[in-house]
Amino acid sequence: MDFKKSDTVDGPIRVLQISDFHLFEAPHQTLMGVDTQKSFETVLGWAQEDEWPPDVVLATGDLAQDGGKETYRRLQSNFASLKVPTYWIPGNHDNLTMMQDTLTGGQVSADKRIELGFWQIILLDSTVSDHVHGELGEAELKKLEEWLTEFPDKHALVCLHHHPVTMGSDWMEPIGLNNSDALFAVLDRHPQVKAVVWGHVHQKLAQQRNGVQLLSSPSTCFQFKPLSSDFTVDTAPPGYRRLDLFPDGRIETRVERLDSYDLNLDPESQGY
Ligand SMILES: [Fe+2]
Repeated sequence: MDFKKSDTVDGPIRVLQISDFHLFEAPHQTLMGVDTQKSFETVLGWAQEDEWPPDVVLATGDLAQDGGKETYRRLQSNFASLKVPTYWIPGNHDNLTMMQDTLTGGQVSADKRIELGFWQIILLDSTVSDHVHGELGEAELKKLEEWLTEFPDKHALVCLHHHPVTMGSDWMEPIGLNNSDALFAVLDRHPQVKAVVWGHVHQKLAQQRNGVQLLSSPSTCFQFKPLSSDFTVDTAPPGYRRLDLFPDGRIETRVERLDSYDLNLDPESQGY
């Protein structure tokens, strides 16, 4: 499926980024005390009260915690219920083969490039088999270079799962993208890239690098405490990011979180 919005449109392309659902095969299994299916569905419901529908939904990895087939089947029906073109990338907890088999059909697509009017969105696979950290392999970097070269006049948004910059938390240093220099070398050759967005870190961050916005987003379940040297869960509520991509290359973005939602979080959790 190649979703193309009319080039004559004046308004922004409206993007909903949702990330790190950590769903289980058993629908109400908990992780650190949190019913991840329930918090995911609550976030989806909340998003549907907010300038709905967006033009596209981007799900940026760790969609499943245990990667079972039934997890992705249930997720496919969650995605289908949105009735919005939906794209995804894997995270370190996901099973790519199962995702490719299951997360497709209807408005849900396994495509990794989206052309939307004055914009193209590129989704990269930064996962490394059996490892938590990320790396962009040669094929991903080549694809990025080719797709950016093909449309020099379209503004670009690049998505991946792992953080390409330091998050200021020691424990997260070894689990980020370990070849960020290679990513930024490509981006530096293509000034039409306006933003890079990722998940994985369960918290929001907004930085700039050479005119490119660097943005991370909350998880739909538990959050990690920003700037903590050791693994620490945060009591911040789950949420999502919205991005409005304007024809002139400008981006307006905001993170929204559930107002009041009891996650039943176990604050003593030592890992996930
Ligand atoms: Fe992750």
